[in-house]
Amino acid sequence: MRENKVDTILTDSPREAADILLSGGLVVFPTETVYGIGASALDEAACKKIYEVKNRPADNPLILHVKDLDSLRECGAVSEDALRVFKSFSPGPITGIFRKKNRDLFTAGLDTVAVRIPSHPTAAEFLRLANVPVAAPSANLSGRPSITKIEYILEEFFGKVDCILRGPDPTIGIESTVVSFVGQTPILLRPGWIDEADLKSVLATFEILNATDPATPIESGIPVLSPGLKYRHYAPSCKVILADSLANVPKEAAQIGFTFFETRPFQILLGSNEDYMRSLYSFFVECDRRKIGEAWCEIPREGRGKRALLNRITKAAQS
Ligand code: TXA
Ligand code: MG
Repeated sequence: MRENKVDTILTDSPREAADILLSGGLVVFPTETVYGIGASALDEAACKKIYEVKNRPADNPLILHVKDLDSLRECGAVSEDALRVFKSFSPGPITGIFRKKNRDLFTAGLDTVAVRIPSHPTAAEFLRLANVPVAAPSANLSGRPSITKIEYILEEFFGKVDCILRGPDPTIGIESTVVSFVGQTPILLRPGWIDEADLKSVLATFEILNATDPATPIESGIPVLSPGLKYRHYAPSCKVILADSLANVPKEAAQIGFTFFETRPFQILLGSNEDYMRSLYSFFVECDRRKIGEAWCEIPREGRGKRALLNRITKAAQS
């Protein structure tokens, strides 16, 4: 991992951040889902620095962030299905996997490319000014929870990247929905805010990868559809417990959910699954900061967000 020796510029100016990116720098920026750590996708050396800073396995490819649909079409071959999905839900928290069109893009050796168009106003302006695809995984150390608050970004990345672009914190709170459009039938690879019902409203048919068990893709011998699925993910240091109810939470544990039975040293009371998505990662990060041993998570409600939340909590609980 890189040491804390880089001069980090903290800025509110998308222009300044874009200039730093175009001169080969790493820029942490907010998106509507989680913070990203970005480099120009046309600059292989800069992209490789992301792996160093995050301590990310070299074969786990990055999502490219672009300003609009025309730029997306320059990166990958966009099918009719993909077009329908992107016209309905983008700009927004949806990522497509496509056959790569531009050979100069950094894709960790793959002939496919993941692309999304963020709706976050600061990210959108930064991408418009940079005017190149920006390769950006979530801004967190590999295997750790994604980051959704600027204070945690400053703690984790100040001194490690060239620039931190400040803007409103993410409002969605979990990573984008990832759909592969490479084969005949689209496949939902990573659940997110955009859910099955949304996809059903625009796609005649699609498949859902059972990604709840991160070990499935490797141990089953099924080819790994999305390399990121085989790695440990989203996990804080504390033990994560998914429970039907919070009735039996031990005295020293933390709790997040809809109904509390007793007060605990750290807790987040939720009103909806949307709240849950927005709070989950900061709950995990805060549990670690407070050196809490167990983080109890109530099972999410039916409806939007349930699959995505279960996916993230189950992965965190497994590691
Ligand atoms: O919301 C998000 O998507 C955030 C923000 C920053 O945009 N980004 C994010 O990136 O979550 P990351 O790298 O943490 O997750 C990207 C996922 C990984 O599981 C990776 O393996 C997969 O997308 N991926 C990237 N390129 C791929 C490709 N060509 N084929 C299949 N999967 C790919
Ligand atoms: Mg990530």
